[in-house]
Amino acid sequence: MKDRIALVSGSARGIGRETARTLARQGATVFAADILEEELDDLAARSREENLPIRCVRLDVTSPEDWARVADQVGGAFERLDILVNNAGMMDSRSFFDTELEDFRKTMRVNMGGMFTGAKAMLPLLRRGGQANPAGASVINICSTYGACSLGRGIRPRGRRARRLRLRPRALLLVDPPCHQLDGR
Ligand SMILES: NC(=O)c1ccc[n+]([C@@H]2O[C@H](COP(=O)([O-])OP(=O)(O)OC[C@H]3O[C@@H](n4cnc5c(N)ncnc54)[C@H](O)[C@@H]3O)[C@@H](O)[C@H]2O)c1
Repeated sequence: MKDRIALVSGSARGIGRETARTLARQGATVFAADILEEELDDLAARSREENLPIRCVRLDVTSPEDWARVADQVGGAFERLDILVNNAGMMDSRSFFDTELEDFRKTMRVNMGGMFTGAKAMLPLLRRGGQANPAGASVINICSTYGACSLGRGIRPRGRRARRLRLRPRALLLVDPPCHQLDGR
């Protein structure tokens, strides 16, 4: 991870926070992005104490304007992004019967729209990250095990199209150690 530039969305707490801290401990410079400002302040203070290179930024993943601002910040400082972790997410645990269309749309805006908008906004910086590193740049989408299991062969670009896009899709199922690499099988 040395000298890598990473952005982790939804990293004020939970899995995102520990992902950001782990990447930083391993040598990456990390942009930790979230809507929770108090928790971000706490993360910034702890990172300073521990001398971890974590920069906290406010980001609502549903907002293209927020993504554009954060892309400017990352690009202004480093001109590239090597790793984008789309971790921000929410869960509405109400039953189908108690969930309204607007509740459903809100979940989709955050969980799916956030990944789409983020990857779009960061693509120019990720391309530069891909050119700078032989291993390429990475977009890591965090989802539930159900989401990971639904990755079938059908939705993966293959052959010439995959090569043209320079994609090497992988799904890592991090349930318990050891992690199982699904890789579409
Ligand atoms: N913990 C689990 O068991 C579990 C299971 C399946 C999937 N996941 C997924 O893992 C990811 C992290 O989960 P977690 O357990 O750490 O959850 P969490 O609720 O602790 O953390 C989610 C983070 O996302 C942030 N977030 C929510 N909406 C946002 C928005 N619009 N813009 C920016 N940030 C936003 C929250 O503020 C929070 O910091 C989520 O995508 C979740 O769906 C977690």
